[in-house]
Amino acid sequence: MIEKIKLLINDKKREFEVDLEEPLLYILREDANLYGPKYGCGMGQCGACMVLVDGRAQPSCLLTCGNLHEAKIKTIEGLAKNGNPHPLQEAFFEVQAAQCGYCLNGMLISAVSLLEENPSPSISEIKEALNRVLCRCGTHSRFIKAVQLASEKSQNA
Ligand code: FES
Ligand code: FES
Repeated sequence: MIEKIKLLINDKKREFEVDLEEPLLYILREDANLYGPKYGCGMGQCGACMVLVDGRAQPSCLLTCGNLHEAKIKTIEGLAKNGNPHPLQEAFFEVQAAQCGYCLNGMLISAVSLLEENPSPSISEIKEALNRVLCRCGTHSRFIKAVQLASEKSQNA
């Protein structure tokens, strides 16, 4: 069924005419021109399409638009503030966490969600939070290090 839905995407009110069964990922990439969330598996298994929905990391390939009316969506494009990168983006860069970068969106969004909920996570909590994102380059240990670094910096700020 085609209907209008309203979303708050990266702090901007947006309205779309969509098939209510359509995954949010398609709306973001094809209608909102936000290409940060990636298509990987389309089945909720790789995490490449992660976005924040009301502050929590969720795979946008599994979220149907009909359930999202007036939801608050944040994509990787909305993480920087006043032209400054998000502290986790800085830490990912400092550690050179990514290799090919395909999983980067999912890793960052999952890490943002984690630190917002738990600013000082243990290594096992970081691993658990990033566990929903597959990295085919195998740079998991660098992503974990980057999250630790961002967490430490925020504690000392
Ligand atoms: Fe959504 Fe893989 S594309 S989890
Ligand atoms: Fe290549 Fe993770 S850096 S998939």
